[in-house]
Amino acid sequence: MSVMRTKSIEQTLREGDEPEYQLKKSLTALDLTVFGVGVVIGAGIFTVAGRAAHSLAGPAVVLSFILAAVCCGLAALCYAEFASAIPVSGSAYTFSYASLGEIVAWIIGWDLLLELLLGASVVAQGWSAYLGVFLSRLGIDIPASVGYGSHFDLPAFLLVAFLTTLVTIGIKESVRVNLALVAIKVFIVLFVIFAGIGYINKDNYSPFIPPAVASDHKSGWEAPLIEQIFGFTPSTYGVAGIMAGASLVFFAYIGFDVVATTAEEAKNPKRDLPIGIIASLIICTILYCAVAIVMTGMVSYDKLSDEASLAKIFEDVGKPGYATLISAGAVAGLTTVVMTLLIGSSRVVFAMSRDWLLPPGLGKVNPRTGTPARITIGLGILVALTAALTPVGKLEYMINIGTLSAFFLVSIAVPVLRRRRPDFERPFKVPFSPFLPWVSAAICAYLMLTLPVETWLRFLIWMGLGFIIYFLYGYKRSRLAGRQGPQDDRLPSMTGT
Ligand code: ALA
Repeated sequence: MSVMRTKSIEQTLREGDEPEYQLKKSLTALDLTVFGVGVVIGAGIFTVAGRAAHSLAGPAVVLSFILAAVCCGLAALCYAEFASAIPVSGSAYTFSYASLGEIVAWIIGWDLLLELLLGASVVAQGWSAYLGVFLSRLGIDIPASVGYGSHFDLPAFLLVAFLTTLVTIGIKESVRVNLALVAIKVFIVLFVIFAGIGYINKDNYSPFIPPAVASDHKSGWEAPLIEQIFGFTPSTYGVAGIMAGASLVFFAYIGFDVVATTAEEAKNPKRDLPIGIIASLIICTILYCAVAIVMTGMVSYDKLSDEASLAKIFEDVGKPGYATLISAGAVAGLTTVVMTLLIGSSRVVFAMSRDWLLPPGLGKVNPRTGTPARITIGLGILVALTAALTPVGKLEYMINIGTLSAFFLVSIAVPVLRRRRPDFERPFKVPFSPFLPWVSAAICAYLMLTLPVETWLRFLIWMGLGFIIYFLYGYKRSRLAGRQGPQDDRLPSMTGT
């Protein structure tokens, strides 16, 4: 059997209907949009935006946000076409299985896990930081030995444990909690925009694009791969700073693709998935650009703290009460991000185990809750430990490279599937295909090249690990291998389909 085996779309859809793996279909277009906004708005705008403005792009960080939004927007169109045509759980992983073959599907699934698991861990750490700030404003101090940045981040651990329990109990319940928290978060972001407008000082926009300066600390492993390849002198600010800013604030958009991982829980996925994906991206882009403009107008970019939070900016203009409110909102907002990333990661592993690329027993749906309980609990423990034990640091770039590589492959998959299966019904189609999907792939590749050399190395190690697991387990045992039935005879065999 060749490595390039591909599953048919019909088979993919049939598997979504198997009773053992059936998820509850309860989500509407509004639920999906809320779900999307819930996961997208988070640490990216509350902390990373300030850092990107301060050290990479200056007030032109709004251009970085626009560039990253263009990249995500094009990828979102590709996701929407796939999600409407193949509405089964697992997101890009499932789409690519039906178009590019098993090994590409495995790579994408593995990339998505990097995005979702590390994403949940990093945001849980960010949540812990905000909780610390908020509680200290109320006069309560978390002991330094178990707080944010310590050897064991207890608040981050407890948050993930609590959310894992919620997600295991059932998706509808989780979405209800999500709805309330997302409402608070959007309110806080709007509050920042409208309360901040009055404090804008036009002088802070000059220069809008700070002139490029040579940066000596950014050399070797920390320099962008593209600069190392072409031998450019590393610099910050200027046009290169806007590009580097885009590859950093890209983090702020991560998550809209998670909407596609809940496809089988949507009531009318063909219509509602494209709406959920595209609407959440548009809402977030508008909010982010507005926040970027207000933030860099309120405080000069060189005075923004490197750890800048939107709360800190209001302290700087003499409004500590507003800062307290914003840190409370950040605590609520980051909670929903962690929860949604947890749900997304469990659905990706669910889809992989249903294909027997991972042990099939993992993917069994608990009949009482209608959720894949074993996977959810297992991944929850992994995320809780990663969040608690990993030092606070450069994981954002790892998350971005995992996501960009998945976007890259999904973009390529659109024209491939159109050529292979022109007959297949596509309720939503990417306009100007194959031109736009190719542009999407090119922008993703470019942004990946602007990431640091060390990120590439870590990424290659992660991918190497994935290949080892695939060739030692999935390649021999997957349903498409057709060599061996399932170990668990309660699960239906796809042999001969
Ligand atoms: N986009 C998510 C955030 O900003 C991951 O935290």
